[in-house]
Amino acid sequence: MKKTLGQLFLIAVVLWGCAKGINPNDTAKVEAAFSKYEDSEGKTIFREKCAKCHGYRIPETKTAGQWPGIIDRMARKAKLTDDQKSAVLAFVTKHAKAS
Ligand code: HEC
Repeated sequence: MKKTLGQLFLIAVVLWGCAKGINPNDTAKVEAAFSKYEDSEGKTIFREKCAKCHGYRIPETKTAGQWPGIIDRMARKAKLTDDQKSAVLAFVTKHAKAS
């Protein structure tokens, strides 16, 4: 019983870690995550602006249908200009999860 609870706790911690996104201070993990996207303006802005309050919520964590509403909210928080917002939206929807 004790062991099972321990395992559940571990799973919960791991899931919580994922939900918060990639820790920007974990350079190796950040590099690994971003190396699979080709360079673009949106990628650069995302890397600069989108892990100030939470970890990186990489494009594959949401669908192309979910991203526009989220970027609307987050662009305000990250104080993006309209151009930066469009670039980030293009980047995340391009690599969004399929469904
Ligand atoms: C000023 C702080 C701040 C910045 C900067 C910021 N966020 Fe957020 N983000 C939050 C907070 C707070 C939440 C949780 C509340 C919410 O969902 O609105 C959140 C939630 C999210 C979520 C989860 C939303 C959901 O519905 O599951 C995603 C994805 C996200 N942010 C992406 C981004 C992206 C992309 C950027 C860069 C453009 C960004 N954030 C910049 C504060 C920030």
